[in-house]
Amino acid sequence: METEHEVQGATGTREDQARSHLALALDVGSAEEALALARRLRPHFSVVKVGLELFVAGGPDVVRALAGEGFDVFLDLKLHDIPNTVGRAATRAGALGVRYLTVHLAGGAQMVRAAVEGFGSTSTDSSGSGILGVTVLTSEPDPGDEVLAARAALAASTGCVGAVCAAADLPVVRPVATGLVLVVPGIRMEGSDPGDQARVATPGSALDNGADLLVIGRTVTAAADPAAAAAQVSASLLRGSWQQD
Ligand code: C5P
Repeated sequence: METEHEVQGATGTREDQARSHLALALDVGSAEEALALARRLRPHFSVVKVGLELFVAGGPDVVRALAGEGFDVFLDLKLHDIPNTVGRAATRAGALGVRYLTVHLAGGAQMVRAAVEGFGSTSTDSSGSGILGVTVLTSEPDPGDEVLAARAALAASTGCVGAVCAAADLPVVRPVATGLVLVVPGIRMEGSDPGDQARVATPGSALDNGADLLVIGRTVTAAADPAAAAAQVSASLLRGSWQQD
């Protein structure tokens, strides 16, 4: 299937470039709500993320529906189990046509490799799709550089296409995770409520520090006017120094 997302080497207008770096976390309780939100905010986001809440509520059907509408789907299940179980689950996820699937790097090399192989055996998405390894959750306050570097190295050596980390972790993760797509959640606008996230950053500072794809959740989904909030995130990126022009 032809998809529209290209994290690296984004071209086009500055708005297109901003959009290529933004993933919308569809953390809502029904397929109907998710589809409506994804369609409405499509001008601002190149990727939509299906996390635990939506997947438990809507199952694979909501993933198929989003992929069927041409969205690049990021399936954020953060798998962490024995290698055989994770490999088999990743095989099913690949067959759903998702672009990214997350696994916890804490699960170890054998488990991550099983995910990479399973996903690759069925994935129908274009090049660039694959497994994202979660280094340390952004809700954890102080992961320690050694743990972070070891997890990033594990993502690179096991065939992950990317790694998920906090913006503050990028200086440690980026040199180790060479060539990987760096995905950063915990994004907040200046002065807004971090909620349960311990390590937050603004969209512009995350990109300036080398993030490739920013996960935008409650900043937009909990706003009184999600479209206006999404436009604000996008506009904040247009003022940054990260553009490739
Ligand atoms: O609402 P908020 O911006 O905090 O949402 C962040 C999203 O990113 C959630 O869907 C959460 O599950 C996800 N995520 C995260 N930290 C990670 C990986 C994913 O917050 N390390």
